[in-house]
Amino acid sequence: MITATIGLFYGSDTGATEYAAELIETAFEVANIEKHDVHKVSAADFASYDRIILGLSTWFDGDLQSDWEGFFDEFKTIDFTGKKVAIFGLGDQMGYGEFFIDGVGILGQEVVNNGGEVIGVWSTEGYDYDESVAEFEPGWFMGLALDEDNQRDMTESRIAQWVAQLVEEFELEAVGSTT
Ligand SMILES: Cc1cc2nc3c(=O)[nH]c(=O)nc-3n(C[C@H](O)[C@H](O)[C@H](O)COP(=O)(O)O)c2cc1C
Repeated sequence: MITATIGLFYGSDTGATEYAAELIETAFEVANIEKHDVHKVSAADFASYDRIILGLSTWFDGDLQSDWEGFFDEFKTIDFTGKKVAIFGLGDQMGYGEFFIDGVGILGQEVVNNGGEVIGVWSTEGYDYDESVAEFEPGWFMGLALDEDNQRDMTESRIAQWVAQLVEEFELEAVGSTT
């Protein structure tokens, strides 16, 4: 039974993050996902959600995806108090191993600065990169890392595992429960 609504905000230059957002939407069976392209949102659009997923790619040596870059000043004004926020990032660990999914760390830090709780942290095991702003403590990314350039065949299973983790951490099964 669908018991909760999650706001999923994503930005994508060549479609990889958008594709991942669609897979994530499909993988959630116990929540209704409302997807928003960051190109078209304002800060007010975040207010109606207590559970939020952010998705972005990293570009040009550690920069936010272009729509997130354009929205970033407004993003920094959002009050995330009382909200749980999960982040997924697309990157290229071989081509840009010094900046792998840096955008996940950049957004995540702002969420924390503005009172939010970042959930869905993800092990760095299984990736081969040099540095990442997303690695907030040794061995842990602030969110799910996906690499459609080098590890495309792992995307679906990583998403399935991450979504199962989010169902617990968003406390979705408890919502609307009578027990
Ligand atoms: C010019 C260029 C710069 C990139 N810079 C980075 C980077 O700094 N860090 C990273 O992890 N990936 C980097 N990437 C890889 C992209 O993030 C990756 O291809 C991603 O899947 C693109 O997703 P999108 O189509 O949703 O924007 C770069 C790719 C290109 C073509």
